[in-house]
Amino acid sequence: MKKQKRIGILTAGGDCPGLNAAIRGVGKTAIVKYGMEVIGISSGFLGLIDKEYSVLEEHMLSGILTLGGTILGTSREKPFKKSKRVKIDKPGRIKETYNELGLDCLVCIGGNGTQKTAARLVDEGLNIIGIPKTIDNDVWGTDQTFGFDSALLIATDAIDRLHSTANSHKRIMVIEIMGHHAGWLALYSGIAGGGDVILIPELDYSIDAVNNYLLERAQKKKPYSIVVVAEGIKKPIKDQSAASYIAQQIEEGTGIETRKTILGYIQRGGSPSPMDRILATRFGAYAVDLIANEDYGKMVIKKGERIKDIQLSEVGSNLRLVPPDYKLIKKARGLDIYFGG
Ligand code: F6P
Repeated sequence: MKKQKRIGILTAGGDCPGLNAAIRGVGKTAIVKYGMEVIGISSGFLGLIDKEYSVLEEHMLSGILTLGGTILGTSREKPFKKSKRVKIDKPGRIKETYNELGLDCLVCIGGNGTQKTAARLVDEGLNIIGIPKTIDNDVWGTDQTFGFDSALLIATDAIDRLHSTANSHKRIMVIEIMGHHAGWLALYSGIAGGGDVILIPELDYSIDAVNNYLLERAQKKKPYSIVVVAEGIKKPIKDQSAASYIAQQIEEGTGIETRKTILGYIQRGGSPSPMDRILATRFGAYAVDLIANEDYGKMVIKKGERIKDIQLSEVGSNLRLVPPDYKLIKKARGLDIYFGG
């Protein structure tokens, strides 16, 4: 009789809604469809280095679909990062734990950093499958990551709520949305929430041009304006938040009372949206089908409506950024939404 497969699963990098739905998708498919054994690794790659893990039984996967965060815990541990202070051979420890556990494959659920580490582990000879997640939606190779849709709902709701208070006080409201390198969340929530100015890392902006645009709106008797900024926009003062910098510059440059809101970690918390639950479940189930076929070294992706896979080595250090000529931006410009230049 063929030996049952034993797989490990970990969540790494910043958390996001849908991680538990993906863990459940992997775990239930592995146990129910294929009779595999599943080991949950704690706190991302740290769990493999520190040998912290436990068997996930099917009943433990019930009731977690709707939960935010991750039942496994996560960390931003980067085992291949060189540091003089670190004396232990972290990749060596990971391989050792993998072999001690007798894993046939390790499923790594995470963003760009995680997929990069996952690809390095493939080079080290381990069987790996990657699943992309992040609210930033910037993992290369997939049309969408889970986490993005839930964060978009939260960010849009927050922008919606700014309109009434901005209108009451005739103020300019600046809201900072997460996205260090990629402006997907700021772009989509900005458009969905009726933002007047949207600034994202991928597009250069001129603060003078933004101020002129806002003054013109005031002259056109628009009583207030909403400015949506991604946290990673270029700014001269590194330590100042994007919202603080932009709000200060706008108030000084226009003379209009301006307030700022930094949405922060609220965007990553709470229950996943129905779309994220479905995407995470489909990713998880597909990942295990790959494992059953011993088709390792892949990352699961969404292309159009289909779930597919690419080589993990293709992902590398690439980021999926908003293209400057993105169609939605062109359409938004036609509605007089301003992108800073
Ligand atoms: O999950 C992605 C992200 O939310 C980025 O937008 C943000 O820069 C980063 O995580 C911050 O997370 P942490 O403080 O957990 O490192």
